Amino acid sequence: MKDIAPARHELDPIEIASRDEIAALQLERMKWSLRHAYENVPFYTEAFDKAGVHPDDLKDLSDLARFPFTVKQDLRDNYPFGMFAVPREQVVRIHGSSGTTGKPTVVGYTRNDIDNWATVVARSMRASGTRPGDVVHVAYGYGLFTGGLGAHYGAEKLGCTVVPVSGGMTARQVTLIEDFKASTIMVTPSYMLSILDEYRAQGLDPRESPLQVGIFGAEPWTNAMREEIEQAFDMHAVDIYGLSEVIGPGVANECVETKDGLHIWEDHFYPEVIDPVTGEVLPDGEQGELVFTSLTKEAFPIIRYRTRDLTRLLPGTARTMRRMEKITGRSDDMMIIRGVNVFPTQIEEQLLKVPGLAPHFQIELTREGRMDEMTVHVEALADHADEIARATAAADLAERIKQVIGITARIDVTTPEGVARSQGKAQRILDNRPKE
Ligand code: DLL
Repeated sequence: MKDIAPARHELDPIEIASRDEIAALQLERMKWSLRHAYENVPFYTEAFDKAGVHPDDLKDLSDLARFPFTVKQDLRDNYPFGMFAVPREQVVRIHGSSGTTGKPTVVGYTRNDIDNWATVVARSMRASGTRPGDVVHVAYGYGLFTGGLGAHYGAEKLGCTVVPVSGGMTARQVTLIEDFKASTIMVTPSYMLSILDEYRAQGLDPRESPLQVGIFGAEPWTNAMREEIEQAFDMHAVDIYGLSEVIGPGVANECVETKDGLHIWEDHFYPEVIDPVTGEVLPDGEQGELVFTSLTKEAFPIIRYRTRDLTRLLPGTARTMRRMEKITGRSDDMMIIRGVNVFPTQIEEQLLKVPGLAPHFQIELTREGRMDEMTVHVEALADHADEIARATAAADLAERIKQVIGITARIDVTTPEGVARSQGKAQRILDNRPKE
């Protein structure tokens, strides 16, 4: 793998500014953002009044803790445009989060918002090792989902040649990467695995591909998965994080030279980590739920948004801006198996250690009597697909899950292609428990 980290002079000065400079900018912007939300969005006016706080009460960054949280239900209650802080005519773009229940959660952007978003995505790509002039293959979905268009505008802003492929048609993905000589790919890590399979199916050596950098996000993935993808393609695999409610991809990104967690672009997004039960703000270093306040957004300011993503804040390394550890999972995806809390990422970590298993998996939850049972469906690699090899791999995985996570799981090792393939965000959990 090539050393492709950007030089310091290529960075935005704020990325490596002193903590004092960053904090001063944040305070100034936070004051603006709270006032902008309070004065222009009836939801925030009511919420702040009810909590007995006013934007003028913010004298210091820590005063933010006095302001109320915003949750996804608040966005649903104000569907579609009730959270906008500017006249609808100034909103140049709408996105929405998928919303399995029918109506999406709507977010909006002014022209300045789109420009700031492109800036943070371009910054994320540069941190990942992408350079102006590179060919960037975007296989995140285009549409209401923020992945495709978010990556697209960032890549253009950085000065790259963008190939807007979107998800799906996996054979064609491989053809275009090879023919256009893409050096960066932006895609979910689970769909990257499908692309990997397709390389092999076409008899191509993925290590010979032109790809040098993969910028992977939109779903949790582990360092073990990073290793798997980096080895398979001889490329850097870097983590990008974001969510529609806060802007989309580009809220935080790893630096290719350190790959030690994601630097949060703190000049636009102010992070807090809270105790998910009490709501209390936790000191940096402690694990909890990530909360964001936007500092510059015009159309859709968001104050103390509870992401449900679990992580912890760490000091800066390659940049002065703070890092968040790779996401363990969403609180919604936490499974409780006989009293033990388990996340899909923990299962992923273990199964990637077992020889003969492919990295595709799904976790099925069922209920027997009063007990929740977990079955891990995972595939055997083609050269380990006979019955004995599959039984050995199943026993190995069951043992690791027992030893490391402390639960008994059933393991179903299928023949190759036995687990549903992802074309975007992988569905890791199949909940087949009876509805209460
Ligand atoms: O997934 C935005 C995005 C697109 C991020 C492309 C990165 C790349 P939503 O569809 O609103 O937006 O989903 C946001 O996805 O709250 C996390 O639970 C999860 N997520 C996003 N990035 C990561 C990541 C986009 N790097 C939700 N690691 C978030 C773990 C992630 N989870």
